[in-house]
Amino acid sequence: MKKPGIHIRILLAAFALICAATFSLGAVGISITREFMESRFKDRMFFLAKYLALNAEVGVLIDDRSALERLASNLLSEEDVATVTILDNHGDKLVNISSGALSSLRIVETPIISRRLRNVNLLFSSDTGVKIPETESIGKVRITYSTRGIDQLMALIGRRFIFFSAGLTCLAGLIFYFISRSIVVQVTRLAQAARQVASGDLELRAQQGTLPETRELALAFNAMLDSLAASRTALKEANKRIMRQKMLAEMGKFSLMIAHEVKNPLSIIKCSVDVLKKDQSLPTKSTMIGYIEDEIKRLNRLIEDFLSFARPSLPSFRVVDLNAMLKEIVTRFELQKAGTSIEIQAKILSVPCHAKADPDLLTRALSNIIKNACEANGEKGLVRITACCRQNTWIVEIEDEGKGIASENLKKIFEPFFTTRTKGTGLGLAFAFQAINNHGGVITAKNRAEGGARFRVELKIED
Ligand SMILES: Nc1ncnc2c1ncn2[C@@H]1O[C@H](COP(=O)(O)OP(=O)(O)OP(=O)(O)O)[C@@H](O)[C@H]1O
Ligand SMILES: [Mg+2]
Repeated sequence: MKKPGIHIRILLAAFALICAATFSLGAVGISITREFMESRFKDRMFFLAKYLALNAEVGVLIDDRSALERLASNLLSEEDVATVTILDNHGDKLVNISSGALSSLRIVETPIISRRLRNVNLLFSSDTGVKIPETESIGKVRITYSTRGIDQLMALIGRRFIFFSAGLTCLAGLIFYFISRSIVVQVTRLAQAARQVASGDLELRAQQGTLPETRELALAFNAMLDSLAASRTALKEANKRIMRQKMLAEMGKFSLMIAHEVKNPLSIIKCSVDVLKKDQSLPTKSTMIGYIEDEIKRLNRLIEDFLSFARPSLPSFRVVDLNAMLKEIVTRFELQKAGTSIEIQAKILSVPCHAKADPDLLTRALSNIIKNACEANGEKGLVRITACCRQNTWIVEIEDEGKGIASENLKKIFEPFFTTRTKGTGLGLAFAFQAINNHGGVITAKNRAEGGARFRVELKIED
């Protein structure tokens, strides 16, 4: 069975509390009022009995029953008096008249005292205050009265009280309803947010609400979501790295096999070419030899790329001036491209920029990117290389004027063996990515609005 929620519990608790408080207070109040009224009522009847006793003295002494009857019937006309009885000192009834059948009857009695005790104020003394000797009493007045009036009054008060209590309980219930609703609405909103997050919407954040407690809860909830999102991203990154490592490990095995299988025949070919070179008799041999040598070079490069990527040597870090290192790379490319329509324009600050790095790895990585930029330009074009230091970061940008990278390939270009060039291995950028990653750096690629691609490398430097 579903347990009642906060809303219902608060309402029930409030209801029970108010009911218990109002009804117990009411019951106590009614009983005190009743006691007070009964005692005042009794006092009044006692006063009437004493008044009759005073006036009845002579009538009792001379046994004037008609006079006593008149006195008694006078008293009977008083409201709530049911029976008036006058007794002599032997207990015989001298007068006994009754007004009819009345319910809830009570009795008060007072003695009729002879004149010798008149120095005592009998009318205003209480029945317990003055001791009257038995011998001085010449008779007794007994009044039977009805408390029906009190009962009716108490019933009326009770009814009014119940109405009043019910009204008060409803009002309190209403107030508690609105108070508990304001709490429950905020808790429900938090629960809804939690459900939405559970269904995968990690971007959602809980509203803080108006109560300090719910605000604190929402803040804690949002902080939990932030750390959840952060660890999810970290997990994704870690997964990516693991996948890449796995692939690299597989490739390592594969490349070792290729290196073994291809390198031996290559050296045989190379030896044969050397022998051919020495033989002057063949007329087309120089062209053939040229072809063979080109292919051998290409194969050799493929194997070396494979090996350096799949079985990378551990980087050996030392303090390097990155700007000087880049300048050297650029100079090499300028020499290579001298006499072609590929122009290389470099803007590298002459101030040194020191970082702990493996210069060989970095040189090869950056050379691959610059080589790609030159290749992307085709026959003609400008390759712009800029380097600067900003906030402890060395930033290098390499731009070209080629066709740029197709948007569907942007995500793939750093994967090993991805190439769109007929003679490419697809290992240049994969190697660059790996080397820069090993330096704790970042490499990104974008297409420029003016056309061509822009590669950006960021490396942390020493203060
Ligand atoms: N500057 C660039 N402009 C346009 N596309 C580029 C650029 N640099 C890289 N690419 C794309 O990324 C692919 C992968 O480059 P990567 O250097 O890894 O291999 P490759 O250049 O094809 O072969 P290799 O470098 O082994 O000769 C390229 O084939 C090309 O499609
Ligand atoms: Mg390349």
